[in-house]
Amino acid sequence: MISLRTLPFIVSLVVSSVTAGINKSSESPCDEPKVTYWFSFGDSYTTTGFTWNSTLPNIGNPLGNPAFPGVTGGGGENYVGFDTVTYNKSLILSYDYGVGGAVIDPTLVAPITLALPDEITQFLEGAAKKPEDLALDDVWIGINDLGNTFYLNGSRSAFSDLLLERYFAQVQQLDCSRSLAMFDLVLSATLAEETSSSSTYRLPIGPLWCIIGFFPTQLDLLKTVIEGFNSKLATKVKAFQAQNHGVTTWVWDAYTAFNIILESPQKYGFVDNSSYGEPGDFWANTYHPSSPAHLIFAKEINQLLTGTPWF
Ligand SMILES: *[C@@H]1O[C@H](CO)[C@@H](O)[C@H](O)[C@H]1NC(C)=O
Ligand SMILES: *[C@@H]1O[C@H](CO)[C@@H](O)[C@H](O)[C@H]1NC(C)=O
Ligand SMILES: *[C@@H]1O[C@H](CO)[C@@H](O)[C@H](O)[C@H]1NC(C)=O
Ligand SMILES: *[C@@H]1O[C@H](CO)[C@@H](O)[C@H](O)[C@H]1NC(C)=O
Ligand SMILES: *[C@@H]1O[C@H](CO)[C@@H](O)[C@H](O)[C@H]1NC(C)=O
Repeated sequence: MISLRTLPFIVSLVVSSVTAGINKSSESPCDEPKVTYWFSFGDSYTTTGFTWNSTLPNIGNPLGNPAFPGVTGGGGENYVGFDTVTYNKSLILSYDYGVGGAVIDPTLVAPITLALPDEITQFLEGAAKKPEDLALDDVWIGINDLGNTFYLNGSRSAFSDLLLERYFAQVQQLDCSRSLAMFDLVLSATLAEETSSSSTYRLPIGPLWCIIGFFPTQLDLLKTVIEGFNSKLATKVKAFQAQNHGVTTWVWDAYTAFNIILESPQKYGFVDNSSYGEPGDFWANTYHPSSPAHLIFAKEINQLLTGTPWF
């Protein structure tokens, strides 16, 4: 959790930078490009290594810190970077609160360092203090929550319900932080799974592929748990949309997106669906897709959001 001791300093830093931004755009409205805002939350599939109390996104440096493309799970640009500077139709200032190893709720599954509530606190205490007319929020999280628990005893379906209850209570906090229209891009959990030990298996299961240190029978279980979670997620998004007038939601199904590419890797320009770490590979390492894979995801997300102020 964020320590109270550091909070006041952090808040003042963020607020002063945002104020400078307001002044800049009101000085010469005709010369300034149209600026839009995007706030991302999630894990290593989303992170660019952004620190909320250092350089903030600004014109000419749309991710703030660290320097573009940031520090990503697979190295190089990820979908946030590509959508911010390659597929953008406005000048997007992109605040990426994603942190590697993040989970939905640290009381349900242990994170590596921070979890979604920490990311949202950083946002609420920082950038959210200056309400934007229009903001895009995206959340891509779930792989760590499911990958670390799918093999446990007890109803996985009930556990997914619990995860999603906490997930949407937090998404609701994002919307309560502002009175004006907001957009949520809620992404599904993906299948790519990590090696739990030195033994790495890359096993196809039906149309799926995963990189995993478990037995094949467990892969069937993982597939079932992910598909159950994603189906419940889609239902929750519909309910959320119905309850929050003025909010528009989109779902990009990362699980399906991964599997479509991995079923026909050559069609998408990749060497195969299991190699990693070399040019032409879909995978950057045993857990993360490569930058060229993120380029495809970014394009799909861009297409989903085409016609909005961002894209
Ligand atoms: C806005 O810019 C003007 C001119 O540069 C400066 O004098 C003023 O202090 C700025 N105001 C804020 C709130 O930053
Ligand atoms: C930024 O915040 C983190 C906690 O979120 C803290 O550990 C770090 O010292 C802060 N850095 C600066 C420069 O204030
Ligand atoms: C897209 O983003 C880049 C980098 O911030 C910026 O230079 C460019 O002007 C943006 N494109 C549009 C159409 O606003
Ligand atoms: C699940 O339950 C079985 C049977 O009670 C037990 O043998 C096993 O150790 C349990 N596994 C876990 C991960 O708790
Ligand atoms: C992996 O790619 C090959 C083509 O290179 C394809 O035949 C196979 O079905 C793919 N496996 C999975 C699990 O999608």
